[in-house]
Amino acid sequence: MILITLALGLATVGLLYLLMSWNFNYWRKRRVPGPKPRIPTGNYPNMYNLKRNAIYDLNDIYVKYKNKYDAVGIFGGRVPQLLVVNPELARRVFVADFKSFHDNDIAKMIDEKTDFIFANNPFSLTGEKWKQRRADVTPGLTMSRIKTVYPVTNKVCQKLSEWVYKQIRLGATEGINAKDMSLCFTSEMVTDCVLGLSAESFSDNPTPIMGHIKDLFNQPWTFLLYFLAVSTFPSLSRLIKLRFVPPKVEHFFVGLMENAVQTRRAQLASGTQFERTDFLDYILQLAEKRNLDTRQLLAHTMTFLLDGFETTASVLAHMLLLLGRNPQEQQRLREEIQAHVKDGIVSFEKLNDLPFLDACVQETIRIFPPAFMSVKICTEAIELPNKDGPNFTVDVGTSVVIPHYCFMLDEDYFHQPQSFQPDRFMEPDAAKKFRENGTFMGFGEGPRICIGMRFATAQIKAAAVELISKFKIKVNPKTRNDNLYDPVSFITSLQGGIWLDLEAL
Ligand code: HEM
Ligand SMILES: *[C@@H]1O[C@H](CO)[C@@H](O)[C@H](O)[C@H]1NC(C)=O
Ligand SMILES: *[C@@H]1O[C@H](CO)[C@@H](O)[C@H](O)[C@H]1NC(C)=O
Repeated sequence: MILITLALGLATVGLLYLLMSWNFNYWRKRRVPGPKPRIPTGNYPNMYNLKRNAIYDLNDIYVKYKNKYDAVGIFGGRVPQLLVVNPELARRVFVADFKSFHDNDIAKMIDEKTDFIFANNPFSLTGEKWKQRRADVTPGLTMSRIKTVYPVTNKVCQKLSEWVYKQIRLGATEGINAKDMSLCFTSEMVTDCVLGLSAESFSDNPTPIMGHIKDLFNQPWTFLLYFLAVSTFPSLSRLIKLRFVPPKVEHFFVGLMENAVQTRRAQLASGTQFERTDFLDYILQLAEKRNLDTRQLLAHTMTFLLDGFETTASVLAHMLLLLGRNPQEQQRLREEIQAHVKDGIVSFEKLNDLPFLDACVQETIRIFPPAFMSVKICTEAIELPNKDGPNFTVDVGTSVVIPHYCFMLDEDYFHQPQSFQPDRFMEPDAAKKFRENGTFMGFGEGPRICIGMRFATAQIKAAAVELISKFKIKVNPKTRNDNLYDPVSFITSLQGGIWLDLEAL
């Protein structure tokens, strides 16, 4: 009896081992070099213990292979992935060979039934549907619409500084939580700009909007479990899909949207609101053109809401951190701004034309890129060269990892990469040039480049102008001194948080 149990036990272990490792010769068969994978984590040793952000595991591989190859074969759990280690090849993936890498890997994990809103985001749409949606949404984010809502931006900036004055009066010795402050700013901005509603983020009694926005981003554990399960058993992604927007939150925003649309229509009908070419105006046009109901309209436009909050807030918070650590650069920025402030405001045209301000934003994105990597799916098989190694073919369905972090923080491309030196971006068109050689693609590149780039940068710049011209920024000693990323959060953030001490000037 004992023998049989033992034999069955061994057989089960053996089968599991086979199941976990049968794919491990995938890259060897294709003659793509790469590090030896392990059961059960593949090439991500910290996948389960979460001691360190996954990008550092990738960076270890990157450093070993980058001089001899363009790409290496790795495994996420059991799943083969191609890791691109040459920025020129990275750029090919985004631009020249876009046809072969058309869609984002996340599309495999999402469908309309489980998550109507996220599945309808251009980021997760695929093929022709993506093309149509992108064309639908892009005209909503033109420079002239961003300019139309600039007075709203200024109003929100004022609320931001009033809030900071209040914190100073209250004597916050613990420091101000920069991430929370920035999230209040972007939430207020987006709800006011898009829906014409105030989330009252900076008041003592924020509206439920704020709570629901936070709920959206406070569920990393659900995702983590899902990612772990799917990287061990990829076919699970066909059965179980990811739900990013919880039903409660979806319901809440549908209601909000209905309200905003009705209010605007009533205002237009009664003549109390003259036509305003803002985002809501665009949303109404779209509804008419495509004959959309509120839920569909919400799915189309949640893009403005969802994609903007966390990414933009993250860049703002880390920019304040880096300026706090570098008083000289902070003073230089203050002087550039003060030369153009009139009645507390910098004109919209000037805002987008302050070279040092722009350089500070770009340099922050280089050190703390909200998207530290992109993962694409191969949509059309392609043969690629591999420097010292033989050419190889990428098959349809393969996940392709572009580790932006590795290029942006590589000494070979950026001297003293961990230090904040906005001067790197002071030459005309510097950001564009770096983007063109693939070393700096913080907003992506090519046909799928971020559509919110200009909106995001305008918001970050407006908030920076407000804060830098009114306050001196220092970093509270509670904040760590290096640039270590949080191991769990899926948008880049400094481990332990950013705590600032602001002093009125
Ligand atoms: C500083 C803030 C932001 C950063 C760093 C950022 C970065 C990115 C990146 C890296 C991509 C993926 C490109 C790719 O892998 O192909 C992307 C896509 C996208 N972003 Fe942003 N983003 C920011 C803010 C925004 C805002 C404010 C919006 C909306 C108003 C937005 C809307 C989108 C959309 C819709 C896509 C998908 C585009 C497509 O697949 O066609 N982003 N963004
Ligand atoms: C490898 O691929 C490149 C194009 O990507 C091609 O120019 C080259 O001739 C190929 N080399 C071999 C040995 O097939
Ligand atoms: C990328 O472009 C920048 C700006 O023109 C240049 O300084 C840098 O040397 C280039 N890097 C590579 C790897 O070509």
